[in-house]
Amino acid sequence: MTIKGIEELRFGVEDVEKARRFLGDFGLGAGASEVQDADLYRTLNGSRVYVYDQHDTRLPEAFEAGSTLRTLVWGVEQASDLDALAERLAGQPGFAREAGAVTCRDPQGLTLRFELSTQVEVEIRVPGINQHGDIRRVDEPSPVYEQAQPIGIGHVVFFVEDLEAMEAFYSEKLGFQPSDRYIGKGVFMRAGQEGHHHDLFLLHIPNKPAGLNHVAFTVRDIHEVIGGGLAMNRKQWSTFIGPGRHPISSAYFWYVNSPLGGAFEYYTNDDYLTAAWQPRTLVHSLETFTEWAVEGGLDGTTRRQVVKQAG
Ligand SMILES: [Fe+2]
Repeated sequence: MTIKGIEELRFGVEDVEKARRFLGDFGLGAGASEVQDADLYRTLNGSRVYVYDQHDTRLPEAFEAGSTLRTLVWGVEQASDLDALAERLAGQPGFAREAGAVTCRDPQGLTLRFELSTQVEVEIRVPGINQHGDIRRVDEPSPVYEQAQPIGIGHVVFFVEDLEAMEAFYSEKLGFQPSDRYIGKGVFMRAGQEGHHHDLFLLHIPNKPAGLNHVAFTVRDIHEVIGGGLAMNRKQWSTFIGPGRHPISSAYFWYVNSPLGGAFEYYTNDDYLTAAWQPRTLVHSLETFTEWAVEGGLDGTTRRQVVKQAG
């Protein structure tokens, strides 16, 4: 059974117009929606973001109040994967087996759906980085991006109340592997033995209820992370934190506050792991969370750190 990754995100939002503007500004392309009164946006690899009004009765119950993720769709490689999942998930709350899909709820009440992946390979040339002993770019400057164009949906992060129960569900029922963990605080999980550092991060903060922390989109390189974040600032969207780099996963990141719930992240250069990787157990601290980061972002016009106005 192989879960490939995140195929689709379905959001229920308080302000549909604002969400539309945000997704377009974020660099997602508007697609032809097959769902009436729900807008569709796509990444370059064909992964989908659907936006519904939060009160739309076609959406399953929300796992937190306000604008948030209402259904997370994981893509699988073949039809037999759906059969295997149906066997494992039968008996879970909300379980249903339809033609071409399996659905259930995770232990926090979020609706999960599994479908055949329709993602496409994205072939775009990415100019290399010149490092000592490894010259990849000759007679060619490094790119500067005016805005980002996300390639795929890389991972999702939830606030979780019962870390053990959530990790047990994702590992035992869905076959996710732990990649690294913060003692008592969180676990990074990848869907397969081999793949990018995490498809899912479960974060436990005492007294913080279940909810969406952020969803993350892959971009070409560090320069597109910067160009994307600066463009979002010019379009008046505020930064949560970024740019910066996580020492765990090695990714360069920029998180923008999102009207769809939580934050939307641009990231690149995360670790790629195989069965040989040994998960690390770490103490969560400022240094293990961020090697460095800019709080509040960079100003897209001055290209300098955003300076908060006094008072
Ligand atoms: Fe992230």
